[in-house]
Amino acid sequence: MCGIFAYLNYRVPRTRKEIFTTLVKGLQRLEYRGYDSAGIAVDDGKSNICLYKKKGKVKALDEELYHKDNKIDLEAEIDTHFGIAHTRWATHGEPSAVNSHPQRSDKNNEFVVIHNGIITNYKELRKYLTDHGYEFESETDTEVIPKLIKYLYDNRESDSVSFSTLVELVIKQLEGSFALVFKSVHFPGQAIVTRRGSPLLIGVRSQYKLSTEQINIQYNGETRGVSKNLINSIDSSNALHSVNDRMAVEFYFASDASAIIEHTNKVIYLEDDDIAAVAEGKLSLHRMNRSVGEDPVRVIQTLQMELQQIMKGNFKAFMQKEIFEQPESIFNTMRGRICFDAKAVVLGGLKDHLKEIKRCRRLIIIGCGTSFHAGIATRQVLEELTELPVMVELASDFLDRTTPVYRDDVCFFISQSGETADTLMALRYCKQKGALTVGITNTVGSSISRETDCGVHINAGPEIGVASTKAYTSQFVSLIMFGLMMSEDRLSLQPRRLEIIESLRRLPEMIKEVLALDDKIKSIADELFQQKSLLVMGRGYNYATCLEGALKIKEITYMHSEGILAGELKHGPLALIDYHMPVIMVIMRDACYTKCHNALQQVTARQVDCPRNLAKSVTVE
Ligand code: UD1
Ligand code: F6R
Repeated sequence: MCGIFAYLNYRVPRTRKEIFTTLVKGLQRLEYRGYDSAGIAVDDGKSNICLYKKKGKVKALDEELYHKDNKIDLEAEIDTHFGIAHTRWATHGEPSAVNSHPQRSDKNNEFVVIHNGIITNYKELRKYLTDHGYEFESETDTEVIPKLIKYLYDNRESDSVSFSTLVELVIKQLEGSFALVFKSVHFPGQAIVTRRGSPLLIGVRSQYKLSTEQINIQYNGETRGVSKNLINSIDSSNALHSVNDRMAVEFYFASDASAIIEHTNKVIYLEDDDIAAVAEGKLSLHRMNRSVGEDPVRVIQTLQMELQQIMKGNFKAFMQKEIFEQPESIFNTMRGRICFDAKAVVLGGLKDHLKEIKRCRRLIIIGCGTSFHAGIATRQVLEELTELPVMVELASDFLDRTTPVYRDDVCFFISQSGETADTLMALRYCKQKGALTVGITNTVGSSISRETDCGVHINAGPEIGVASTKAYTSQFVSLIMFGLMMSEDRLSLQPRRLEIIESLRRLPEMIKEVLALDDKIKSIADELFQQKSLLVMGRGYNYATCLEGALKIKEITYMHSEGILAGELKHGPLALIDYHMPVIMVIMRDACYTKCHNALQQVTARQVDCPRNLAKSVTVE
């Protein structure tokens, strides 16, 4: 996921080297979130903004800053300065220097912006700005933001327009989610930050007393019927600053407390649509309108957390953190693609190929491990919605068999990393056979994403834990969205489509409900973990859940586990069942409910003499 860090020193002299070090360190603190490129913007001392951007590690960017060709005076001391830095995880356009942030308004870097999140209406904005003569250089959604603010600046009605007014006008036009930091040559020493749907916080540090412990929001729009433009005339009584002659103060801005905590534990968390402005060392907060029940102040909080704790939140491991991210990652997979009100689904990456896909003879879904399971999990719905035969293949086996593939086949390649060798080889094999190749990948710019004819980026955010978790649910949702798109004009399938769309709308909340069972599940796991082996059984839609569950158990606990199709129980696996063998049965209230209960009875019948009934049944209503 992308990371934001910015640093403003106001009348606190720092050498350029110190500023670089602070910015780079801030980025290093965010590295754990995963990224593929990084960038920094600083002043050059001659009223210009310099950009340093690099694909790859923060270390590479750091080396570039100190490269002998960089003529910048590192020892120069700067009294007041605002520097911004970003790590990018590609969603729009491949990882590259030009696509990384800061993004800029023009070749003179008049306005530069760093952004976390996704701008869903960027295509419309890009078109508008292009029509007005603004030239784009990157493939990112973000680039519309610096261009838009420059457009507004170029067309300003008054020279006294403030930086925050411009930002306010910009965010009015944006759809999607964002945390944004703006820097401009027209407003030296000033910082504007804002957010909607992506986290952002501000840290403050001063040797001196601060003017206030809480900041009152200044409302720019209609308040109790009175229209006023406070942003243009910042009310300093509401601003936060240090109380001393020079008003020396430092501000830190970040998407994540881990980048701030080593500098200060005094922080302010911004709420959606807050605009924070620092000008002349004073931090003020602005909003458009005050709505009923809204808290009109932001309190300066004292963080008590240790760095390690912040990075993993309250989680012991990244895998656990990623499991708990699923309500959000699923939402990001659907963002800008499903319109729940219009019941419409558009996958931008597939829409131009839909006709061709509809004409195909069969769908072949290929992947390894968890990604293969995502294919198994969606096969039934895809068969139903596309009315096409669907094969699901393990990439290695598919290659071993030199499976016949034809020009009128459509082959899907599912991969979180987009780099798995077997899946990539299967892709090249299918391409050679002339089939249409479709990627379902989480990593923009990965080999599979690049080499497929078209596809879907699942936008789950980077998966740092070794075992795949949130990618699975996002792969699942992506494939279901594909099915929904394919069945859009099939009249007979409409009730089913609407049922699925409605369920997808509720999915993030339902995942939250399951995650709330954490303690209960842990107590079951503590008991099962004592056993040698564990069978996971189910059928229908949940066969894949059993396979995936067993794979996770193997990988994480090193114990033996097997996912078994309940329908196969009497054809062999029943022999394994006795009172020493714990079994998890996944039973849903669906078409397989009675059949699953029959299987459960067979299992419990063989465990009658069990001293302690080890058969566990997990029923999800
Ligand atoms: C685009 C944005 C996405 C945003 C959405 C809605 C990009 C990269 N993505 O998504 O972040 O949420 O608009 O505004 O700009 N592709 C492959 N193989 C793959 C995956 C993708 O060839 O494995 C291709 C697609 O066919 C498409 C491009 O890559 O041409 C981008 O795919 P995707 O991000 O899924 O497209 P959108 O849904 O339009
Ligand atoms: C299991 C796991 C692996 C991967 C598999 C494919 O937890 O992580 O089974 O799912 O190696 O990886 P991708 O999806 O990156 O192609």
